[in-house]
Amino acid sequence: MLAPAKSAQRALLAAAGLLLSGVARAQTPDAAKAAGMNEQELLFWVLLGLLGVLMLTLLFVGITIVVQMKTQLRQLYDLPTVHGTWSGKVLGLLVGDPTLVRGEYKDELLDHNYDGIHEFDNDLPPWWKYGFYFTIVFAFVYVGYYHFTTKGQLQVAEYETEMRQAALLVSAGADDPTKLTTYQPLTTAADLGSGKTIFATNCAPCHGANAEGKVGPNLTDEFWLHGGEVNHIYKTIKFGITSKGMVAWKGKLSGKQILQVASYALSLQGTKPANAKPPQGEKEAAKAGGKPVAGL
Ligand code: HEC
Repeated sequence: MLAPAKSAQRALLAAAGLLLSGVARAQTPDAAKAAGMNEQELLFWVLLGLLGVLMLTLLFVGITIVVQMKTQLRQLYDLPTVHGTWSGKVLGLLVGDPTLVRGEYKDELLDHNYDGIHEFDNDLPPWWKYGFYFTIVFAFVYVGYYHFTTKGQLQVAEYETEMRQAALLVSAGADDPTKLTTYQPLTTAADLGSGKTIFATNCAPCHGANAEGKVGPNLTDEFWLHGGEVNHIYKTIKFGITSKGMVAWKGKLSGKQILQVASYALSLQGTKPANAKPPQGEKEAAKAGGKPVAGL
């Protein structure tokens, strides 16, 4: 019986020796730098790893000892001076005494009788009893955490937090026709130049070469069917009014191109081109939008 314990000891020593020599090498600054850590951090993790290995080994050795010495431990447990004590109970769990979990049944009938139903007077099984104690402790922790310290969120608060997080995620990839962007009109000559080219190729057939209006409305007046603020125009161009013949340019023009052509259309405000189509929609002065275009 001693032989396995000794060989286990020797294996343990060998493993520790190997690990320690590994640590000595790993502590060189180069290795630490390569792993993106400073030396102290590295030492901490190595020591933590060693501790883990040590605990596992101890567990393994402990289990081996219990398995090897089961009969002796059993005899020790059966001694009347050990049996009733707390440490005796731990020993009983180690050698696997089922009555410690299930309880002991005396199965003695009590002498009363309810309509033919007899009653035993057995103890509660320990697994049940300790489970019950656990629920009591849990209840105190739970009530303390959620209702007294209010550290934990109750259902409604948790729901609202999750909805807020979800809303953030949705607007991050915004491609939602019901939401307005927050762009400002572009003003540089380069952007307006690209806008003009895009307009001439894609929009002039319906809105006229000078945006005076043909099938589509005049875009140079102050009257707008779907809003004259740059973000409203952006939205109209992106998603279109397909039921009325205005194309949805999403997928055909990039976000940047849509903003360029929207800004170009706005730059034509008040140019009064020849053959202008009569006003359609509500009178509305063009307003500036919100954030600059960097996000496009
Ligand atoms: C196939 C024809 C057609 C093409 C091409 C077209 N549009 Fe339109 N557009 C329309 C029609 C028709 C309307 C009016 C929709 C309505 O009555 O609601 C419209 C409306 C609009 C409006 C809204 C005007 C308002 O009063 O609110 C804007 C802005 C606009 N178009 C810009 C453009 C731009 C920019 C392009 C090119 C990228 C373009 N359109 C290409 C037909 C077209």
